[in-house]
Amino acid sequence: MGEAYAPRRVFTRRTFLGWWLASLLTATVLTGGAPLLIYLWPAPPKGQKKTSIAVSIQQAIDQMPSGTAVKFNSPTSPNSAFIMADGGGDNATGELAFGGFVSKDEAGKVQVFAQNCSHLGCSVAFNATDKTLDCPCHGSRFHLNGTVLHGPAVYPLAHLSWKQGDSPTTIQVEGIVLGF
Ligand code: FES
Repeated sequence: MGEAYAPRRVFTRRTFLGWWLASLLTATVLTGGAPLLIYLWPAPPKGQKKTSIAVSIQQAIDQMPSGTAVKFNSPTSPNSAFIMADGGGDNATGELAFGGFVSKDEAGKVQVFAQNCSHLGCSVAFNATDKTLDCPCHGSRFHLNGTVLHGPAVYPLAHLSWKQGDSPTTIQVEGIVLGF
């Protein structure tokens, strides 16, 4: 009776080269792609903590007449800033603002905006006569609903995420404690 034929696994040069090339390719992709992960999941800056910031405003929102805006600033102790929820032009989602406005437009709609002009970032101010938010730098003007009334700004004001605070004259605005 003859010996049964048992196929042997042979580790050929071709197999070795295949594995070697696959390993090399994987290592290259991992090495090249790792830095991209920092952009996808950025580490929070040291000493900075995203939080909801309590802000006092001069007037209770339900007491504000239509066609008004009330200014507020970010706290300085600890030093904090607000985080833009959207934006265009010089503003963008995630950028910081050190002040804002609670604005009630002619229709009675309440919105909260960062103070930064969307042209080049100067602070806008409430114009009580015309019921607008005006920029002193290059003359841009915004309706109280944040849209552009007059350029050179092209984009509306950036919103801040907010909710009513514990008292009628307090709001909670999404921001960050800068820690310095
Ligand atoms: S920065 Fe406001 S108009 Fe230029």
